[in-house]
Amino acid sequence: MREITVALAKGRLANKAMELFEQMGISCEEMKDKSSRKLIFVNEELGIRFFLAKANDVPTYVEYGAADIGIVGKDTILEEGRKLYEVLDLKMGKCRMCVCGPREAKERLQHHELIRVATKYPRIAKDYFYNRKYQTVEIIKLNGSIELAPIVGLADVIVDIVETGSTLRENGLDVLEEVCGLSARMVVNQVSMKRENERISRIIKGMQQLVREEKP
Ligand code: PRP
Repeated sequence: MREITVALAKGRLANKAMELFEQMGISCEEMKDKSSRKLIFVNEELGIRFFLAKANDVPTYVEYGAADIGIVGKDTILEEGRKLYEVLDLKMGKCRMCVCGPREAKERLQHHELIRVATKYPRIAKDYFYNRKYQTVEIIKLNGSIELAPIVGLADVIVDIVETGSTLRENGLDVLEEVCGLSARMVVNQVSMKRENERISRIIKGMQQLVREEKP
């Protein structure tokens, strides 16, 4: 039997997703050893294997079929724009993609002034400003600690993830506009969906059931 391969975005998401797989009776003992540097884990009995990848790479593995299934945040799915099926909202890791900045920037935003936007998500930011707001902006790609940009004068606003809002608060910034809601999603390779339909559908349904039970 061909193994079903699942790519998990490394980190908290992977741990939570593995808990769900375990509840479905799909587990990987090897994966529980946190000190291990191993990247791929196989359950031969069930014909399934899991690997951990950088979140941004999960949609790539799934599009090319190196993984049949992926578990990754909606932010990454939108930013990567890969060809795949998004089949399930896991309702975990919920947060929002927002335009944030100092309160004074709100007016500049509303008046469609040519503002500078710093973000780790240039594609999402471009889509939001160009296609939804018909607003021309200058987008500056950064790789982390985005909240710094308006504070040190690199940009007027940022497009970033807001979860609890404490990073913003502690840095004197506000949510100015909401771009979209985010959470972890299950994605599937388009060919695998046909070729392995039975096994993949079973996994989707099992997961769906758990998500429903957890969040009525
Ligand atoms: C994310 C995001 C915000 C923060 C939001 O950053 O970019 O900075 O979390 O969370 P909060 O609303 O609960 O404060 P992350 O920790 O991933 O680090 P990075 O920005 O440096 O990549």
